[in-house]
Amino acid sequence: MKFKIGNIEIKNQVVLAPMAGISNPAFMCIAEKMNAGLVYTELISAEAVIRNNKKTLDMLKGIEDINIPVAVQIFGSNAEVLSNAAKILTKLYPIKIIDINMGCPVPKVTTRAGSGSALLKDINKIYDIVSSVVKSTNANVTVKIRSGWNKDTINAVEVAKTVEKAGAVAIAIHPRTREQGYSGVADWKIIKDVKNNVNIPVIGNGDIKSIYDAKKMIDETGCDAVMIGRACLGNPFLLREAAAYLEDGTILDKANYIEKIDTAIKHFKLLLKYNDERKAVLEMRGHISHYLKGLNNVSEVRNKLTKVNSSEELIHILEDFKNNYTVVKNK
Ligand SMILES: Cc1cc2nc3c(=O)[nH]c(=O)nc-3n(C[C@H](O)[C@H](O)[C@H](O)COP(=O)(O)O)c2cc1C
Repeated sequence: MKFKIGNIEIKNQVVLAPMAGISNPAFMCIAEKMNAGLVYTELISAEAVIRNNKKTLDMLKGIEDINIPVAVQIFGSNAEVLSNAAKILTKLYPIKIIDINMGCPVPKVTTRAGSGSALLKDINKIYDIVSSVVKSTNANVTVKIRSGWNKDTINAVEVAKTVEKAGAVAIAIHPRTREQGYSGVADWKIIKDVKNNVNIPVIGNGDIKSIYDAKKMIDETGCDAVMIGRACLGNPFLLREAAAYLEDGTILDKANYIEKIDTAIKHFKLLLKYNDERKAVLEMRGHISHYLKGLNNVSEVRNKLTKVNSSEELIHILEDFKNNYTVVKNK
């Protein structure tokens, strides 16, 4: 089912989560091929953007190649800095959605910079930030939050109402507190509470590992779309499976080993397109163990990959593994 974020139509209810070090243009292209309706970038420092930091600005290199809506996520704690960063980014890149991070639990972001989930402690500041960013740009502004700072200060509903009032056009919620980090389980009841208290679309997030979880979250909470993070690592196929299942109950076949390896190679080639070879190889080594999860006899190929330095070598090892895979399996 379609839904809208401001004036942008999203073709289905499946969203790739922002993940630092993972949700870059290469992985977002893969998510597009896997039929995601919307993708979020990893968090981008607003301070670094206004300082014109090249490495930070280059994080978006390639988003113009993505043909589905992209929400570019920025983080910071100062309304003016965030607004200026939104202005700069929307001038440099064709950005239609700017997302403000109010969920990151990492101390570097919260304690040192007062941003990410630390913002949840200050409702006035939230209003200030969102309304300033809305005024500064023509892009649609969205916010991603957690349920609150800790179990005694759960305030997702108040935060959601505040960002709506300030002009945000959608909200994504990962219903764990900052204190929880990634422990325990996401409390989907909070997604329902948020949905029942705002009129903007609510994107539910947290612990979706299967198509059935995706459907269950929508049924239980009434959220407009589901956002999937960790379960997409090495398994972006879950995005298309969830899209099909949510659309009309279709259960797609799981990706086989050929598609898994071919997708890993495609992912790597996209990383090479947007990064230097060293960075692409290092990043892909992390992804490959996820792509190979569940396949037989992967320890040898994993070992080989830890020593790889060149792109040709990496692709050769994967092709070789794929070409010999059935032989190994039939022994
Ligand atoms: C490696 C990693 C990096 C993440 N980086 C971000 C980020 O940059 N911005 C953000 O809002 N959330 C980030 N998150 C949180 C996810 O977007 C998501 O809210 C969380 O993983 C729960 O969803 P899941 O259970 O589907 O993984 C990150 C999560 C992981 C595992």
